[in-house]
Amino acid sequence: MKGVLLAGGRGTRLLPLTKLTNKHLLPIFDKQMVYYPLLTLCKAGIREVLILTTPQHLKDFKKLLGDGNDLKMKLSYKVQKEASGIAHALALSKSFVGKDNLALILGDNIFEEDFSAAFKSFKSGARIFLKAVKDPQRFGVATLAGKKVVEIIEKPKNPKTNLAVVGLYLYDARVFDIVKNLKPSQRGELEITDVNNWFVKAGEIDSRNVKGKWMDAGTFESLVSASDYVKKNRDKFAL
Ligand code: DAU
Repeated sequence: MKGVLLAGGRGTRLLPLTKLTNKHLLPIFDKQMVYYPLLTLCKAGIREVLILTTPQHLKDFKKLLGDGNDLKMKLSYKVQKEASGIAHALALSKSFVGKDNLALILGDNIFEEDFSAAFKSFKSGARIFLKAVKDPQRFGVATLAGKKVVEIIEKPKNPKTNLAVVGLYLYDARVFDIVKNLKPSQRGELEITDVNNWFVKAGEIDSRNVKGKWMDAGTFESLVSASDYVKKNRDKFAL
């Protein structure tokens, strides 16, 4: 399985912190944000990762992480010229992934779980990861019937459940055909939720609950609370 890590986007929610640098290069306690999703992939057994970022920040990521040798990983890089959506960025990884399965992780998502078993048992279709949260309207929100995923709504005003779809997704290589046919949403982006709903309709998606802490460090509050959490649990997030 290959890894695809998204570190693009505009980071507008974190201005002026993101005026001079990329959101994923901001510190979370003792290291840059991008290390956390990278370590999540590494812990789960993935060694080959493509990092997608903006044209202006590419050289900074290369300077920080290089070819990945220090982490015993193999890193490569690609530019997403415009922040046209998570699914748009995913499409750019097609030649890197080839016919393999892939794990897509958002660069501002921080997990403490070891996902090895969930990655290993994944064979085909799509797998999403869910976490019960207090503020589901900030996220993609899933509805289940028993264990079956029946619907995902992106940032609903009146969420039907409190189950956030976190920024970690497993797909087989058919995902690239699906992404090719997507239309931009009202906010002008190719949405990962539309990709996941394709798999819902096809009946080829399953879900796992996230164990342990999950943080989306994309706001000022979550940036501070993530730093605080890592400070108190340093051993779980060591390089
Ligand atoms: O954190 C989980 C949530 O992430 C999910 O519940 C939502 O379904 C999903 O749409 C996403 O929502 P966000 O509003 O948090 O997405 P955001 O625009 O902040 O982008 C998430 C990451 O993806 C961020 O680290 C930057 C990167 N990104 C984003 C876009 C739009 C890119 O690399 N390229 C892009 O074009």
